[in-house]
Amino acid sequence: MQRKLTVVEGMALAEDIAREWEQIQSFQARDGDVLLDTYPKSGTTWMQEIIDLIMHNGDEQICRRAAIYERIPFIELLHLMKPGLDEVNVMPSPRILKSHLPVNLVPPSFWKHNCKVIYVARNPRDTATSYYHFDKILQFHPHPNSWENYLERFMKGDVGWGSWYDHVRGFWEQKEKLNVLYIFFEDIKKTPLQQIQKVARFLGKDLPDETLARIVQLSSFEHMKDNPMANYSGFPEEILDQSQAGFMRKGKVGDWKTLFTVQQNELFEEEYRRKMDGCSLTF
Ligand code: A3P
Repeated sequence: MQRKLTVVEGMALAEDIAREWEQIQSFQARDGDVLLDTYPKSGTTWMQEIIDLIMHNGDEQICRRAAIYERIPFIELLHLMKPGLDEVNVMPSPRILKSHLPVNLVPPSFWKHNCKVIYVARNPRDTATSYYHFDKILQFHPHPNSWENYLERFMKGDVGWGSWYDHVRGFWEQKEKLNVLYIFFEDIKKTPLQQIQKVARFLGKDLPDETLARIVQLSSFEHMKDNPMANYSGFPEEILDQSQAGFMRKGKVGDWKTLFTVQQNELFEEEYRRKMDGCSLTF
């Protein structure tokens, strides 16, 4: 792995991913595929587990059939790990696929097939905080040398998958046109049952309350942290070095307070207002 970013179509992206850009763009979605898209560290894995549990009516055993990144493949990493493109091409429908690409760079076949999209957004301060810790262990992104420097890079969009602001705005502004269910990390934390029900309905599943309640429990941070099929413990170490810190970190709202100084918070707020000007999205 290269621990290096490059710029692709105006977006910062790991060199190791960028070199397969054409293959990623030509990914062939099919009718009935569902795309889970997020900016990194916004609760992707949490939503992956929720979706898989919904699709299998809350059956814990079935949802332990394979690791979460195998059950729901990541389309930008198909050339770097298993399942690869060949396996994904023969997965039975309906496939659930994960991506971190911004709305304008999602492979066009998803739109051609009118695929449903579930988008999860998380407040930017916690996203930046989580990303800072994650980039220390992710082997294809530059090591964040200091928090101060990392926060500057985050605000400039000089981190993997580019600008958080453009990402959340892009999907927000196109959500009606493109059949996007837009969900917030903080809402799943606060009202998990309601949010899970929303996702289930969007996926055409009408689940009884007791199944929804079971999914709430099975997808809780504590439960997922102890579930080897959900906690990334088997993820390839050449991509994610978990010898110092694990993937399942804290799963909290408000952890940014452990890193932001008062001055950084003020600067961040100013920049946030500038970048999100005219957008009806609020966090
Ligand atoms: P923290 O680093 O703040 O703990 P992603 O899957 O998009 O990479 O997001 C990872 C973040 O989601 C991490 O945040 C992780 O701990 C958190 N997370 C994963 N599963 C979760 C769960 N079941 N409940 C709450 N947070 C969860």
